[in-house]
Amino acid sequence: LSEPSIKRRQLLTRIVKGFTLVGLAGLTYPFIRSLMPDFSEDLSLEVDITDLQPGEHKIIRWRGKNLLVQRRNKMMLDLITSDQVKLKDPSSAESSQPAFAANPFRSRREDIFVTYLYCTHLGCEVVAADSHQREEGTGFICPCHASDYDLAGRVVKGAPAPLNLEIPNYRYLSRSRILLEPAKEESAV
Ligand code: FES
Repeated sequence: LSEPSIKRRQLLTRIVKGFTLVGLAGLTYPFIRSLMPDFSEDLSLEVDITDLQPGEHKIIRWRGKNLLVQRRNKMMLDLITSDQVKLKDPSSAESSQPAFAANPFRSRREDIFVTYLYCTHLGCEVVAADSHQREEGTGFICPCHASDYDLAGRVVKGAPAPLNLEIPNYRYLSRSRILLEPAKEESAV
């Protein structure tokens, strides 16, 4: 073969190789991408509370756990501040909640309560008290070993549970919309 013919053949070979590599990369990228974790997953959840009437609550499932969102009525608000003597940790000094919930109501807004529903004894799911139990100031009852919590999720003295119910991190998007979101230190992990 003449020299120009050899050069043409070498050039053609390079072009074919180039296309093959690009094609392979195009085919394998979706497969490799599918094996990678989805770092863009949105861990927050919006909750609409427009339909909640005073005294009503709804149960929300978020990140594998159940939470309660409750609109307190006037009686509930009065009871929270009336009798703190019976509580183990009335100011929640030992218990787990975001800084904004370190108050007697354990919430951002006094009338709206958001809490995880897991007993701090051995983790059983607690049940929201009925209207009669509420009149006595009881908010939650653990069916496993009978730990009672008040209307702000604070455990009463004598119960096997050591701490108040855990409060999740959340903020308000508007008067009627709450955004549950991981705490800052959690999302940074
Ligand atoms: S798990 Fe709730 S009292 Fe034991």
